Amino acid sequence: MPVRQPSFTRPGPPRFSRRRLLAAAAGSSAFALPGISLAQSSVVDVEPPTHTLTAAAGQAPLFAPDFAQTDVWAYEGTVPGPVLRVRKDAELSVRLVNRLDQPTTVHWHGVRIQNDMDGVANLTQAPVAAGASFDYRFRVPDAGTYWYHPHFRSYEQLARGLYGVLIVEEDQPPQVDRDLALVFDDWRADDSGNIHEQSFGAMMDWSHAGRLGNVLTVNGLSYPEIPVRSGERLRLRLLNTANARVMPLQIPNHPVYLVALDGQPVAPRELSEGKIVLAPGQRADVFVDMSNAPGTETSVLMSHREGEVQAALLAYSDEPPLRPEPLPAPEALPANGIAAPQRDAQALDVELRMQGGAMGRMASARFKGREMGMRELVAQGMVWALNGTAGRPEQPLLDVQRGRTVVVRMVNEGRWPHAMHFHGHHVTVVERNGNPVEGTEWRDTVMLEGEDVVSVAFVADNPGKWMLHCHMLEHQAAGMGTWFRVQA
Ligand code: C2O
Ligand code: CU
Repeated sequence: MPVRQPSFTRPGPPRFSRRRLLAAAAGSSAFALPGISLAQSSVVDVEPPTHTLTAAAGQAPLFAPDFAQTDVWAYEGTVPGPVLRVRKDAELSVRLVNRLDQPTTVHWHGVRIQNDMDGVANLTQAPVAAGASFDYRFRVPDAGTYWYHPHFRSYEQLARGLYGVLIVEEDQPPQVDRDLALVFDDWRADDSGNIHEQSFGAMMDWSHAGRLGNVLTVNGLSYPEIPVRSGERLRLRLLNTANARVMPLQIPNHPVYLVALDGQPVAPRELSEGKIVLAPGQRADVFVDMSNAPGTETSVLMSHREGEVQAALLAYSDEPPLRPEPLPAPEALPANGIAAPQRDAQALDVELRMQGGAMGRMASARFKGREMGMRELVAQGMVWALNGTAGRPEQPLLDVQRGRTVVVRMVNEGRWPHAMHFHGHHVTVVERNGNPVEGTEWRDTVMLEGEDVVSVAFVADNPGKWMLHCHMLEHQAAGMGTWFRVQA
């Protein structure tokens, strides 16, 4: 693979940063301000039994108003694609229609799904050819915030706009005034307002942090305006769909309660200064009380190495506060009933060494069944490895009886952060850099800083072949992906 230098590599603040009204792209009709009563959230509409997701080239106003439209690939013509909303335990039925000029699939990120619906090209299904379609049909066992995206050439297909939100409603949705998904993505734009195409596949990105962008969007718009009313409580579902950017987000000057991570409820806690870090693929559900005065404004912020970006604007209407007193701190969402790992003699321990990358110590790795030196690996587009193998190995990392507890000790041997994503299961961190971690917080994507050693535990109770890979999509493409098997 030729080494191509992108025309810029240092992402800065967005160059086009004007307010846009956040409207239908949020996939929610909830932007009209609600009545006075504390309504049960959402579940407004009766979903038709079948959705269609047509993946096709299209246009989206990502960088408007500076550039009216940008060429993208989109589901159903919008970036993000449509918000799919279903009830917990319901069956979701979606037809993928591929109008791209290359194969694709749909992966349902974070859903403890039946294996043959997981959407991993060449592991759980054949890629869906250009012009073909594929029917996904599965039960969604867990309430929470999930998302969908291709699992074929992910580094390109996501960067061009293919992703969307999947919301699974609790049986008894918590009381909030409105429920909004906010999808954060960064884009690498060129000077003509198009996606920088020459840098797809650039080894410079693949061997470093991945493809970082220079424009931030929320629900497909640069610096959108979110109309709010004083006194209301919002449930915000925050998602990081960027290829590679770790996003430190902040909702300043408001009470922000964390209630779920990666779809799974946590004991509610108020976030210090309203800050939370989301690695690529991760989600957080927060309840935010609109505690400021009518007519005021607050920007949601994302920080990066050189400063802060205004991501979205919370714009208060002039209406009087919705209620006289602030609401009490929220209660926990109902747990989804994930089996607790048992770290006894039956538990299976496995080590996952994360190797390679620029300035790494990796001298060689196995690829396509053969040991190759770095130079040869790079020529193959490979710069990362897991346990000495670049790319998905023929043999799984582990092959485990159903129901057994697995403890994976992940050792980041390099200095780059990674976001390790487990398919079909949620895991809980049990140890971080030698320190035991108390309590259970389920995640499907676990971030490691450079040199971190993090152990996670889970019950391997979902039969099938499951990917385990870095969700920095360039790292995945350049070798950082393996798989494990849970026997039926
Ligand atoms: Cu969100 Cu294997 O991916
Ligand atoms: Cu990575």
